Amino acid sequence: MRENNEDRPAAPAAESASEPDAGTVALDKDAAPGEVLLKVTGLQKHFPIRKGVLQRQVGSVKAVDGIDFDVRSGETLGVVGESGCGKSTMGRLITRLLEPTAGTVEFEGRDITHLGVRGMRPMRRDVQMIFQDPYSSLNPRHTVGAIVSAPFKLQGVTPEGGVKKEVQRLLEVVGLNPEHYNRYPHEFSGGQRQRIGIARALALKPKLVVADEPVSALDVSIQAQVVNLLDDLQQEMGLTYVIIAHDLSVIRHVSDRIAVMYLGKIVELADRKSLYESPMHPYTNALLSAVPVPDPRRRAAKSERILLRGDVPSPIAPPSGCRFHTRCWKATEICKTAEPPLIPLATGHQVACHHPENAEDQAPQDTVLLTAAVEAAEAAGVEVPETAVPDASKAEATEA
Ligand SMILES: Nc1ncnc2c1ncn2[C@@H]1O[C@H](COP(=O)(O)OP(=O)(O)OP(=O)(O)O)[C@@H](O)[C@H]1O
Ligand code: SF4
Ligand SMILES: [Mg+2]
Repeated sequence: MRENNEDRPAAPAAESASEPDAGTVALDKDAAPGEVLLKVTGLQKHFPIRKGVLQRQVGSVKAVDGIDFDVRSGETLGVVGESGCGKSTMGRLITRLLEPTAGTVEFEGRDITHLGVRGMRPMRRDVQMIFQDPYSSLNPRHTVGAIVSAPFKLQGVTPEGGVKKEVQRLLEVVGLNPEHYNRYPHEFSGGQRQRIGIARALALKPKLVVADEPVSALDVSIQAQVVNLLDDLQQEMGLTYVIIAHDLSVIRHVSDRIAVMYLGKIVELADRKSLYESPMHPYTNALLSAVPVPDPRRRAAKSERILLRGDVPSPIAPPSGCRFHTRCWKATEICKTAEPPLIPLATGHQVACHHPENAEDQAPQDTVLLTAAVEAAEAAGVEVPETAVPDASKAEATEA
């Protein structure tokens, strides 16, 4: 972890001499390892849906719908969830590429939620993003040199020794040949292109890097190389990462903590060991049971696969109560009517569930499953006690 800003490329005189405007943040202090670097509170992004000649708003896509989490300096926070659950939107909100509908984003203790372009300029150096698709995120008409040097130009920064020398150094750092400075993206493989994207993200020595599915577009054989590169760079440069993935296998070895998202919400947040060894949210359990087990001796033990029924519901009209109740094999009436808050149920382990696994039931009085839950339980191969079956309990009540 860096202790100060001295190793950064010098800002141009005009920029550093100018008086900060009302919204400008002065980044004069690095967070010490383990301190909160980024704090997100009640963050929401609702994309309006407009129709008709007058473009009236008729609804909204609740892509991110009230999330809270911290990212500590030097750590890797993994974020997982199925396609469309709001991961990329969350990444773009915390890097301030998107304006939030509600909530706050604090970076090093300063509120950056609504900073304008000028106010965001110093912050842009500290927070960088690696994009999901290495094929579309690099301009095909620009050389690698132009792509990796763009952040210096945008920030008006001249590194020591000049831009070209620094770009060639960066290419070497990410495992590319510095002689390829004048080549174009199409001359590189997918893995190499992602390395170019990584070099560009690291150019200004950022503190926080948000990597949106950095390896999902790559061959499995290349994925490990890029993940290992990110890991090595973190050790060397003291980087803090938020790594987004759609399954738990990619981030397994690199994350210190993991947030599991479902339909715009965080449903579980825990350190890696707790999450993999004793997941508490049924959805996490389902995601984990879909993770392939590489060791053939352990594969048999992992044969109980929990199959998720149906598709993810629409974020335009998410289900009431717990959003997972339409697919959960443990859902009862309270799951349909009351939204479970994300609360700590063990040290460093937060869960949003009325009937968590490996923990005390939060709604012990509510034991009768929803009809859809019984069907989901059957599909998932989960045993349902007689008393939890809806009709059986009704019959019991009538008898009483
Ligand atoms: N600019 C936009 N306008 C309207 N809706 C959007 C916009 N961007 C994203 N969405 C919607 O918001 C929801 C969340 O999208 P997002 O891209 O954040 O999901 P994701 O978890 O990253 O998915 P994937 O794994 O497929 O990348 C989706 O329903 C998507 O269609
Ligand atoms: S048990 Fe209820 S609250 Fe918990 S995940 Fe299932 S539906 Fe949601
Ligand atoms: Mg995405």
